[in-house]
Amino acid sequence: MQAADVKRAPLVNALAAIPVEQLVADQKLYQGAVAGGAAAFKVHCVQCHGSGAIGSKGYPNLNDDDWLWGGDIAAIHYTLTHGIRNPDHPETRVSAMPAFDGVLTPAEIASVVGHVQSLSGKAKPNAKGAELFATNCASCHGVDGKGLREFGAPNLADGIWLYGGDKATLTETVKYSRQGVMPRWNDKLDAATIKMLAAYVYSLGGGEATPAAAVPAAAPATMEAKAANGQP
Ligand code: HEC
Ligand code: HEC
Repeated sequence: MQAADVKRAPLVNALAAIPVEQLVADQKLYQGAVAGGAAAFKVHCVQCHGSGAIGSKGYPNLNDDDWLWGGDIAAIHYTLTHGIRNPDHPETRVSAMPAFDGVLTPAEIASVVGHVQSLSGKAKPNAKGAELFATNCASCHGVDGKGLREFGAPNLADGIWLYGGDKATLTETVKYSRQGVMPRWNDKLDAATIKMLAAYVYSLGGGEATPAAAVPAAAPATMEAKAANGQP
């Protein structure tokens, strides 16, 4: 155990010093991080995301470019650090789709489900459903249904489903809503391991470039030092 820590120290120290947005540009460090992240993923993540991170119902596939909350390395790092819908943690990612049971009638729910299916060519367009979608759903999923990441609201037009695109599953989703929970890791793993995991997930193929506006000139030294000690 101690020998492993000594071997790991240079990578851990280098990772502590680099803002996550700049990690990909440092190819040698990035490759080391990806390898460490692959090992950590097998221990901490496969039970929910599956080996190979392909996901299953309610657990997103992390290989594709269909992101709920964002696929650039900083967005992934934030998701891992703070989790999704962790009620005890103010910085967690959160947004709640309302349950439409009782808000819309069963006939209206059927129309709007038909509209959702039409977005990926699985049903004929229907005017009533489109109108209901514009009023009740577009604020989170976008007028075109392609999703809005600031709300973690999935793209409904790409034929990729988190819970399912058949009529019965969609009806259940709209009636009762869904509230997927992903644990935060900043209370369980040290900061270097979280950066390794972010690098690994980013490397899986669906990673996106970090928006220039999100790259800080330099991370505040104290935050990085705290992070190196594994403190949130
Ligand atoms: C207890 C189950 C569970 C574990 C363990 C878990 N996850 Fe998740 N993860 C989820 C769920 C559920 C979601 C989707 C949440 C939602 O619906 O917004 C998710 C979402 C994500 C996302 C966001 C994907 C996107 O499209 O924005 C990333 C990235 C991720 N997980 C990575 C990881 C990594 C890396 C680990 C291991 C450190 C891990 N997860 C462990 C359940 C889990
Ligand atoms: C307040 C924001 C919000 C509103 C309004 C909203 N949704 Fe959602 N919706 C979400 C979020 C967030 C998720 C993801 C839940 C999760 O990850 O567990 C979601 C998930 C879904 C899914 C699951 C997609 C999949 O891949 O399985 C469907 C379908 C859906 N919404 C349809 C609708 C429809 C139809 C309406 C309007 C009647 C609607 N939503 C209104 C935020 C919203």
